[in-house]
Amino acid sequence: MNRQILAAAVTVLSAGLGFCAPRAGAQKSADAEGHAWWQHAVFYEIYPRSFADSNNDGIGDLKGITAKLDYLKELGVNAIWITPCFPSPQVDFGYDVSDYEAIDPMYGTMEDFDRLVAEGKKRDIRVILDFVVNHTSDQHKWFIDSRSSKTSPYRGWYIWRDGKGPGQPPNNWLSTFGTAAWTMDPKTGQYYYHYFYPEQPDLNWRNPAVEKAMLDVTRFWYKRGVAGFRLDAVDTLYEDPNLTDNPVVAGTDKFGRPNMDEKYNKKLPEVHDAMRKLRSVADEYGSVLIGETWTTNVDQLKDYYGAKNDELQMPMDLMMTGFKGLSAAEYRKHIAAVNAAGHWPVYVITNHDIVRSYSRYGDGVHNDDIAKMMAALYLTLRGSAIMYYGEEIGMENNDPKRKEDVQDPEGKLGWPLEIGRDGERTPMQWDHSANAGFSVAKPWLPVPLSAHTHNVADERKDPDSVLSFYRKILAMRHTEAALLDGDYVSLNEGNPNVLMYVRRYKGEAILVILNMSSAEQKVPFELSGAGFLAPKVEVLLTSFHKPLKGMFADLPMEPYSVFIARVTK
Ligand code: GLC
Ligand code: CA
Repeated sequence: MNRQILAAAVTVLSAGLGFCAPRAGAQKSADAEGHAWWQHAVFYEIYPRSFADSNNDGIGDLKGITAKLDYLKELGVNAIWITPCFPSPQVDFGYDVSDYEAIDPMYGTMEDFDRLVAEGKKRDIRVILDFVVNHTSDQHKWFIDSRSSKTSPYRGWYIWRDGKGPGQPPNNWLSTFGTAAWTMDPKTGQYYYHYFYPEQPDLNWRNPAVEKAMLDVTRFWYKRGVAGFRLDAVDTLYEDPNLTDNPVVAGTDKFGRPNMDEKYNKKLPEVHDAMRKLRSVADEYGSVLIGETWTTNVDQLKDYYGAKNDELQMPMDLMMTGFKGLSAAEYRKHIAAVNAAGHWPVYVITNHDIVRSYSRYGDGVHNDDIAKMMAALYLTLRGSAIMYYGEEIGMENNDPKRKEDVQDPEGKLGWPLEIGRDGERTPMQWDHSANAGFSVAKPWLPVPLSAHTHNVADERKDPDSVLSFYRKILAMRHTEAALLDGDYVSLNEGNPNVLMYVRRYKGEAILVILNMSSAEQKVPFELSGAGFLAPKVEVLLTSFHKPLKGMFADLPMEPYSVFIARVTK
């Protein structure tokens, strides 16, 4: 970039316009390139217990969500994924479903649900439900019947086996939540299998009646206007019918048990048959399937799209959530691999099972800057993005300090090595009043002290807040053709601290520079790798604290800062 151009960019900044509205004409319809709605959509995950409590019982509910749709619209959200709100004994806070075709009274009624969908529709916000496909609650009528006798009609809907011998389960498989994977049921003397809690028996997907019933559940909700599902725990749908022992490998897990290579009860090839069947029903209704797809590499993730693009449209890339620290080189490599795989990426930086990104990446000094930097990363890449409620205000984990305060059974079982997931599920922070404006009653999980500064009401008034940054970046993402449809070209590849890329579309491009380190970085403005030899630059958004003054050969990037500009030839 030549000096005059940077000087011009500086002028824009010092005039106080950290963010310029996109110029007229830059607005492109979302499907300019034939992309489906979900490819440009921003999804927002809502943990309904914790979002907004309309009846003041300390637990969030559907009416609470409906009341906040205007907030979500203003933020730039296009679809909400609500974690399970179906009748449930709440052992795993809704991931133990006792009726797939109703709403838990704790969250409201079916009328409340219909109203949520209708109000969402008015605002162009679609509703995605969470489908717990692998298991039901032990209180589901199917399981109650199944356990009643060896010959009951639903016996074959779950996985029942004799033990190997007295007091010995059928094999060595373990539950991911710290218990055995088999529970002996005294009524019939046989064991049933559960990859999660004993109160979450695994369905037997090899039984065609199970498959049909589950496909029918999706039809039930599609007919009520649901735009799709997030499919829970798809990896564990099938088990080896011979119940072969898993190989024991080196080391112990967070519950102190021997590690296992879970090759006989996870990611069996049959999973893909089920995905294809769920997809073909989704296609009848024009709906989208999002997968909870835990993978260790991009090749595995690729499989979930289906060999003929006939499985999940949106398998979540959860790999970035496992990155330790912030390394531009690691992100660069991953993003390149995802793009090279040729599918539409789905980026996620946290969710209700993972420590919040604010707590994971914060260094205690630059926390808000890091939150903005991470927002700029996952919201400017090519692909769909799934946010988690509260990320946009910089919510942090509020972990239990004592075992007796833990609500999540995983934490009760695993304390202190595994403290559970309560910390990332605390009430949404709406304002700085008691209980953060979530409820008048004592919330089911405690609000952290940081709610005093990190809340919607206060951040809305502060142009430099994390929330204001999210709003700007989301607005840009929805209106800039290059962010919607552009390709991705990585630049400045040798730099381990700075991630730099352009998204190019029809002769123009959006340049994104992220300093992922705690030191200032001088970044050469070298865009020739993306075909821009003498680019014109218009600064759109930065997270700099100081205005850029003077002339620079290289762009000075403050610690953990963001620089976004439009570049044209
Ligand atoms: C998924 C959910 C998690 C739940 C588990 C069992 O991993 O995200 O919250 O506990 O499945 O359903
Ligand atoms: Ca299973």
